[in-house]
Amino acid sequence: MTAKAPKESRTIMTDLVLPSETNPLNNLFGGELLARMDRAAAISARRHSRRIVVTASVNHVAFNSAVPLGSVVTVEAKVSRAFRTSMEVFIDVWIEDRESGARTKANEAIYTFVAVDETGRPVAVPEVAPESDLEKERFAAALRRKQLSLLLAGKIKPQDATELKALFI
Ligand SMILES: CC(C)(COP(=O)(O)OP(=O)(O)OC[C@H]1O[C@@H](n2cnc3c(N)ncnc32)[C@H](O)[C@@H]1OP(=O)(O)O)[C@@H](O)C(=O)NCCC(=O)NCCS
Repeated sequence: MTAKAPKESRTIMTDLVLPSETNPLNNLFGGELLARMDRAAAISARRHSRRIVVTASVNHVAFNSAVPLGSVVTVEAKVSRAFRTSMEVFIDVWIEDRESGARTKANEAIYTFVAVDETGRPVAVPEVAPESDLEKERFAAALRRKQLSLLLAGKIKPQDATELKALFI
């Protein structure tokens, strides 16, 4: 399988924040943002693998800034690294100033998707060939994040988390 650049899986979804999607402070409800990010990330993983994909794990979410009612929110997802059957998808969330149009980074998240066949069995996916400095940085750190996720899920033993251990040696 030929490796693919992250730009080939780039997925951008822009939408408004409506009253039914807010919390009592009139900011976007966290679960609504998680769902928007999951949708964009799923499309991104599907573009990379051209397969059915399922969310295996949400590795990291940072709700750094509140997103007020009426905001124009852009969710941008790209596959940052692929392993055998799993893909790490990096999601950046931007809000747009109404008057100037300037974009501010509000949140980010990292999801893991797995490509599966029609019976739900994991299948192999193409590798990622990062291009920009940011893509290379995210690619390099992805194995560490995968090991952390598997460790927290109880799917690997601490002694097998070699990339994580290397951080502390
Ligand atoms: C995700 C799923 C396909 C993994 O199945 P599995 O039997 O654990 O399969 P494997 O052990 O072969 O793992 C498949 C890949 O997922 C990765 N993976 C599994 N759990 C993971 C986790 N918590 N974090 C990161 N990666 C994970 C494995 O490392 C492996 O990656 P690799 O092939 O790239 O090395 C399966 O658990 C599943 O179908 N879950 C439900 C998915 C779903 O319905 N999501 C929506 C929730 S509402």
